[in-house]
Amino acid sequence: MCGIVGYIGTREAYPIIIEGLKRLEYRGYDSAGIALFDGTDLKVSKTKGKVSDLEARADKEITKHGNIGIGHTRWATHGVPNDVNSHPHLSNSGDLVIIHNGIIENYESLKQELMTRGFTFQSDTDTEVLINLIEDVKIKENVKLGKAVQIALNQVIGAYAIAVFDKTKPEEIVIARLGSPLAVGVGEDEFFIASDASPFLEYTKNAIYLEDEEMAIIRFHKAIKVRKIKDDTIVPAYVQKLQMNLEQIEKGGYDHFMLKEIHEQPKAITDTYRGRLLRNEAIIKMAGVEDNMKRFLNANRIIIVACGTSWHAGLVAEYIFEDLARIPVEVEYASEFRYRNPVITENDIVIAISQSGETADTLAAIKLAKSKGAFVFGVCNVVGSSIARETDAGAYTHAGPEIGVASTKAFTTQITVLTLMALRLARAKGTINSTDFRQHLLELELIPQKVEEALKSDAHIKMIADIYKDSRNCLYLGRGFNFPVALEGALKLKEISYIHAEGYPAAEMKHGPIALIDENMPIIVIATKKGHYEKVVSNIQEIKSRKGKIIGIVTAGDTQVRDLADHVIEVPDTLESLSPLLTTIPLQLLSYHIAVLLDKNVDQPRNLAKSVTVE
Ligand code: F6R
Repeated sequence: MCGIVGYIGTREAYPIIIEGLKRLEYRGYDSAGIALFDGTDLKVSKTKGKVSDLEARADKEITKHGNIGIGHTRWATHGVPNDVNSHPHLSNSGDLVIIHNGIIENYESLKQELMTRGFTFQSDTDTEVLINLIEDVKIKENVKLGKAVQIALNQVIGAYAIAVFDKTKPEEIVIARLGSPLAVGVGEDEFFIASDASPFLEYTKNAIYLEDEEMAIIRFHKAIKVRKIKDDTIVPAYVQKLQMNLEQIEKGGYDHFMLKEIHEQPKAITDTYRGRLLRNEAIIKMAGVEDNMKRFLNANRIIIVACGTSWHAGLVAEYIFEDLARIPVEVEYASEFRYRNPVITENDIVIAISQSGETADTLAAIKLAKSKGAFVFGVCNVVGSSIARETDAGAYTHAGPEIGVASTKAFTTQITVLTLMALRLARAKGTINSTDFRQHLLELELIPQKVEEALKSDAHIKMIADIYKDSRNCLYLGRGFNFPVALEGALKLKEISYIHAEGYPAAEMKHGPIALIDENMPIIVIATKKGHYEKVVSNIQEIKSRKGKIIGIVTAGDTQVRDLADHVIEVPDTLESLSPLLTTIPLQLLSYHIAVLLDKNVDQPRNLAKSVTVE
């Protein structure tokens, strides 16, 4: 993971790098550092902690002046988060400096070899090994920095996005990528380097995304040249016009990004179906599906691969695809799928779901599926991301940037895209009649306004959060389409409040978890009217007779669960298959409020990072 930023041009690099790092803190935030060339020498400041800690330290340590520099915000892989392990790292001579996002897997053997040639190491990191390997090559082979980087990278096994410069030649930065994202902002007489485009949005809308196995030497005043790391072949540098704007990546008056993103869901869902759901014409248009309709119709089965919240969206999709389109679906953790020699044929369709489009395990699962001849369809949020580019076809979620580490609007928009796909395929296969199809379109179009309605319970949910904030454990139960929502609710709570939570299919409770229930255990039960309502009510009775505290997520107007539960939170009525889009909302708000009341860092929970680019 980690976020990297670099600048070369005519402006002061320090504020650009610091502000850029703050925008990339979602990628990791256990230490941060910066290196600047101030016209005469290299100035480095780095520290354990967040970018704000780096600012405080840099104020005392360096002059903060210079037009070329690189910076890093870290999510530790090799070596604990401390000052020494923070990036940037210097080579033994002190001339070369590097920032790195990724993992060098063979660093230990490279390190041993370098030590036999007299190199010494201050840190426990793989990155310090890489910069000394580059230095070793540069001296041994008597080559320029770009060539030394290229030769060194050909000896490396692992993943990286790097930026390197040489203080004795401070007019160029060498960058390279394999497995970790890297974007270059192209301004007038200046270049910006970053893990994503957010650090340079206010300076330029022109971006080049480096592909895997590509590198570039960025020289002040010169056009950027991209080449293959392997064999030096020049590849065309494709400049994209960015569609994002600055407001999208700011908090806009909310206390946290997570709260902003929860409240953005009505708009995000609308943006997701805009232009695809044409209710008056009673059609769904999705280019990625239309263009590959034959494959979808002939598919033996769909295999969904994803991680975390995206995996939960995949589970909801399993119910929806099987129910509407009658296509068998299997949902796999990408991390398991990639390593277990799965049976995949050319008639399988793999759908990879990923908000960031950079999750290493999901990317590896895609590559594996492709190597076995499967057709891979991507559902991503980040435009131009690695997964979006690696898949054969796909559909973007159009949720806009999601910055809070806990995924919210990505989840509901993923479900929206997958529902549109299932409906489109159901229509093509004739597994849904036109009346039901039209009703689904109508109901889907009403979802944003119903989400708005569900958001109105915010104050009531905050009150419930206050009652249960000190719980040590929590159970989430749901059935059918809402079983994955129970899993997602539990994940949201544990990741931002650090309260242990489990999601279960309500009927499975009797097979074990019921033993946990006592008068201190809050149990959130999704008990909407459509979908096994009576069965869930029986499960609630079972909890009540064991004195568990029941928080029911119910359909507006429900009285039966209200009479049994300690608290209820209402959501508007909708079709059973669409109900996850509504029942998710109170669960997001509940975990948000509990985390805020416990004074946790909601947007940057401990040990986590937004985009998991290491396996
Ligand atoms: C949880 C969360 C993670 C991600 C997971 C996959 O709130 O955000 O579980 O869902 O790391 O990330 P993407 O969707 O970017 O592949």
